[in-house]
Amino acid sequence: MSAIHVIEHPLVQHKLTLMRDERTGPKEFRELLEEISMLITYEVTRDFPVETVEVRTPLTTTTGKALVGKKVAVVPILRAGLGMVGGVLQLIPAAKVGHIGIYRDPETLRPVEYYCKVPTDIAERDVLICDPMLATGGSVVEAVRYVKNRGGRSIRVMALIAAPEGLRALQEHHPDVDVYLAAVDERLDSHGYILPGLGDAGDRLYGTR
Ligand code: URA
Repeated sequence: MSAIHVIEHPLVQHKLTLMRDERTGPKEFRELLEEISMLITYEVTRDFPVETVEVRTPLTTTTGKALVGKKVAVVPILRAGLGMVGGVLQLIPAAKVGHIGIYRDPETLRPVEYYCKVPTDIAERDVLICDPMLATGGSVVEAVRYVKNRGGRSIRVMALIAAPEGLRALQEHHPDVDVYLAAVDERLDSHGYILPGLGDAGDRLYGTR
């Protein structure tokens, strides 16, 4: 069973409250999502292995820790996931970035990939799939499936808010995938929005509505 990590850090929770506030406009919303994404990245990478290396300071030689060979791919789910990429890259600037665009055909209800591209060496990377709102879980379940079909093996999901329904769907389909997020809200409404949530994350990021 996958682990669900809710980041209770005061800075994350404070910024999340600002993002929920309907008066927060797109500029501040974008900045806050990037900041929270950076703070979540800090937790996502907590177990990355390090080795002891020698380092020369201006005064002497000592030892320090260095990350060992962990290569990362950040894969936002379009469109709101794009708002998380900058925060991840601030802490992991060498990460490669893939993109996943999926929608559900309203008639067949089958997922349709309209734009998907991930690094060719995805099998050798730790993959961080980003989507701020894990609502029904449909997109993220398909995104993980896509990455696995391309060879991805070490996959984690980063989100801002999840509904219990979305977490259940992800755990049912991908019990090997851990989730890192700022809050688990109450439920979905009849339109698939998370309650209390923060509204449509894509619209709030980009000022559309
Ligand atoms: N996507 C959003 O942007 N918000 C929700 O509440 C649910 C899905």
